[in-house]
Amino acid sequence: MDTKVWKVDKHVDNLIDYPHVVDAAIFLAENEVVALPTETVYGLGGNAKSDEAVAKIFAAKGRPGDNPLIIHIAKKEQVHSIVKDIPEKAAQLMESFWPGPLTIIFNKKDGVLSELATAGLSTVAVRMPDHPVALALIEKSGLPIAAPSANSSGKPSPTTAQHVIEDLQGKIAGIIDGGPTGVGVESTVVDCTESIPVILRPGGITKEQLEEVVGEIRLDPALKDQESKPKSPGMKYRHYAPNAPLYLVSGSRSFLQNLIAERQKEGMRVGVLTTEENMHYVQADVVLACGKRAELATVASSLYDVLRTFNKENVNIIYSEVFPNTGVGQAIMNRLEKAAGHKLISE
Ligand code: TXA
Ligand code: MG
Repeated sequence: MDTKVWKVDKHVDNLIDYPHVVDAAIFLAENEVVALPTETVYGLGGNAKSDEAVAKIFAAKGRPGDNPLIIHIAKKEQVHSIVKDIPEKAAQLMESFWPGPLTIIFNKKDGVLSELATAGLSTVAVRMPDHPVALALIEKSGLPIAAPSANSSGKPSPTTAQHVIEDLQGKIAGIIDGGPTGVGVESTVVDCTESIPVILRPGGITKEQLEEVVGEIRLDPALKDQESKPKSPGMKYRHYAPNAPLYLVSGSRSFLQNLIAERQKEGMRVGVLTTEENMHYVQADVVLACGKRAELATVASSLYDVLRTFNKENVNIIYSEVFPNTGVGQAIMNRLEKAAGHKLISE
């Protein structure tokens, strides 16, 4: 399949009538699938009402059919057409964080969406992205848009159109290149079908931010304990993995340097994922800085690009610095732990 790549500057006026946005909306109406920029990562969008479109999303990504998709909307009111009811706390979260990197789980209205999109569950995940191009495209299509991250299943999520091209060119109808995404990690997924909301996936909106609005928030036990079954089906899969084995390293600079030296003696090409503050203290074959430790948002923003760069560098092993488990650090550590298959080396 020929994949169209359209460049769209997110700052232009009247995006909803911009020719490339119109072209992409026509593809969506024809049940073709199109990658689009959001403020978190690129999504692979399709008509959420159509089995045909949703099946194309799963096929292009190689995604297991039991992993439901997030439904993207352009206006808050659109949520009424797909959910059964809006609990009070969900309404407060929508008011505070939409548009933005927060996905809310509601009870689903029956008979509206493709059953494939929700993997047959009685609930549905909804979000309103904070990106002018995504909002214009969804509004122009007039449809609820199902959109998982636009990567091949298992790979790090795409934060640039180039990442999407690497994974999906030839498999999808089009890609809107709206430049690099900002947040860099996916939306926070919060289940509001229970009286105390539960975070199923940490992401762009922090636990602390949610608590400020609705008080007590729980964390899905599966986020801490690998034995529990996660409520978010997607969280059970290994994800975000670079090709080389990744180890998280907690310890002093000399501890890390010794590990590197041991591996190099064994003939390995060693990669290190570190930060701007620490990179000058590390000697390895490939040293990549992932933002600044002092500003965790910059780490989130470049994390997936750095993980993908290690693949191009053909390293045999990667050691990564660890981050504090607070604020957006919770999302960063969740993704790194998954990418590492929970392999941690402590001093
Ligand atoms: O930032 C994002 O959320 C990006 C952009 C493109 O919007 N999308 C994204 O989608 O990360 P995806 O498909 O890669 O991740 C969706 C997550 C999965 O872990 C999935 O299992 C969970 O949301 N999910 C979807 N529907 C659910 C439901 N009804 N109940 C529980 N978890 C659900
Ligand atoms: Mg994903």
